[in-house]
Parts: sequence; structure tokens; C-alpha cells
Amino acid sequence: MINAVGKPQSILLLGGTSDLGLAVVEEFLSRGPARVILAARAGSDLSGPVARCEAAGASGVETVDFDATAFDTHDAVINSVEGDIDLAIVAFGVLGDNEQQWQDQKQAVLAAEVNYTGAVSVGVLLADRMKKQGHGQIVVFSSVAGEMVRRSNFVYGSTKAGVDGFYRMLGEALRGTGVHVLTVRPGQVRTKMTDGLDDAPLTVDKSVAAKAVAAGVDAGRSVIWVHPLFRWVMLILKNLPQAVVRRLPI
Ligand SMILES: NC(=O)c1ccc[n+]([C@@H]2O[C@H](COP(=O)([O-])OP(=O)(O)OC[C@H]3O[C@@H](n4cnc5c(N)ncnc54)[C@H](OP(=O)(O)O)[C@@H]3O)[C@@H](O)[C@H]2O)c1
Repeated sequence: MINAVGKPQSILLLGGTSDLGLAVVEEFLSRGPARVILAARAGSDLSGPVARCEAAGASGVETVDFDATAFDTHDAVINSVEGDIDLAIVAFGVLGDNEQQWQDQKQAVLAAEVNYTGAVSVGVLLADRMKKQGHGQIVVFSSVAGEMVRRSNFVYGSTKAGVDGFYRMLGEALRGTGVHVLTVRPGQVRTKMTDGLDDAPLTVDKSVAAKAVAAGVDAGRSVIWVHPLFRWVMLILKNLPQAVVRRLPI
């Protein structure tokens, strides 16, 4: 259970090599030791992620094979975790090249399966597991790209729009069960995923994003914008006609 000072005893990271997910794990470990389970693709080099968790004070680090697109295996992955799952972080995802994705069926389907279907699959299973244990916190990474789907990254953005809607309403469906869901809408964060990209406006470091996530969990929030200004920026952008948006450099 996440105790009165916001410290979980067990943390499951789905997307065990995710830079952002690991930053959130580190942020919670800064409050005291916890057992960490890293769920990552078979064959991933987990030495770095395991070392990060140990250096941050994990009481133990376990690993389990997890492929977001192997939907039939997800039940076994979640069930392989012994004891309660206090905090589950859904952090897997692919960005990809939008111009290739929308013109290449395989790439578009991969993005949809990893980012949306995979996230829905583990969301249902985590909700069931946590309902039975009577408590739990789910954190999922949506994106400002899903809050308003733009021409420049509409394949990725549309998958995140789906994730955002699903998890926000999963949180509603779980009200009163002791299970909480936090949907996180980062703008650009400096991680492995954005390595090599120029900083977009309001880009933040992963430690800043992780602190925002922990604060959101502490406050029992259901949605956060990692950079608070995005809430207002997106509100304005969403209400502009597409003919105007088309002329903007976004
Ligand atoms: N960084 C940003 O600017 C930003 C902004 C908004 C939202 N987000 C979201 O935040 C989350 C974390 O991203 P990040 O910045 O931490 O990027 P990252 O370091 O590239 O992490 C992405 C993770 O997804 C995993 N993954 C990809 N395909 C998978 C599959 N088929 N099965 C299992 N795992 C798979 C990767 O595993 P491998 O190591 O095996 O590839 C990696 O662990 C993602 O959902 C991303 O969309 C990021």
C-alpha cells in the first residue's frame, strides 16, 4: 500500500527500460526503499535500469519479460508479480516518424498496438488485480500530443488520445474501489525517446516530469499536465479552426 507519506512498497514498471518510467521509480525510491519489478522486452539489456533502481535505494529488483503487443501473455505477466502491486507505471510506447507511419500500414499498426491496444490490455488487467487487493495506484503516460491531435504527429497523437480517454474513464470506473489512476500529459521530455530532437517549447528534464507525477499521486489527481502551461496552451489551440492551426508551426 502507498503509506501516509506517499511511499509504495512495490512498484511495477511496464516498459522496464523507459527513461521516464525509471525517473518516476527513482523519485518514489527517494522516499524510502521498495521492491521494483521491471517488465521489459525479452533480450533487453536491463543492467542499466536495474543499476538505476539499486542506486536509488530499491530493496530488490526483479525482471519479467513483457511485450506490449503480445496481448495474450499480459495476464501471466501481471500474475507473475507476487504480493500486492502498490504502484504500476504504464510507460511503454513508440514515437516513430509520422510521415512514414501514416503511409506505411505496418508502422501505423505497430504504433496503435503498442501505444493503445497494449495500454488498454494492461489497464484492464491492472484494474482487476488492484480491485481484488483493494488498493493501488496506476500511472499512465499519455501526452499533450493526445490532447490535441496535430497533423505533424497524428499517428502517435491519435494513439495517445485513445490512451488518455481510456485511462481517465478507467479511473472513473474504479472510483470507490481504492484504486486510483493518474493520467500524465507530458509535453516533450528529454529522454531516450526524444534523443536527437531539438527542444520543443516547454521541454523539461525527466526529473522534473517525475516530480510532477509524484506530486500528482500525492494530491490524488486524475490528470496532470507535466508543464502546467500546456493546459492553457492546448485549451486555446483546441478551439482554433483547423484552417488557422494549419498555418501554425506546430
Ligand atoms: N519523452 C517524451 O517527450 C514523452 C512525451 C510525452 C509522452 N511520453 C510517453 O512516455 C512514455 C515513456 O517514454 P520515454 O520518454 O521514457 O521513452 P523511452 O525511454 O524510449 O521508453 C519507451 C519504452 O517503451 C518500451 N517499448 C517499446 N515498444 C515496446 C513493446 N513492444 N513492448 C514492451 N515495451 C516496449 C521501450 O522498450 P525497449 O527498450 O525494448 O525499446 C521503452 O522501455 C511513453 O509512453 C511515451 O509515449 C514521452
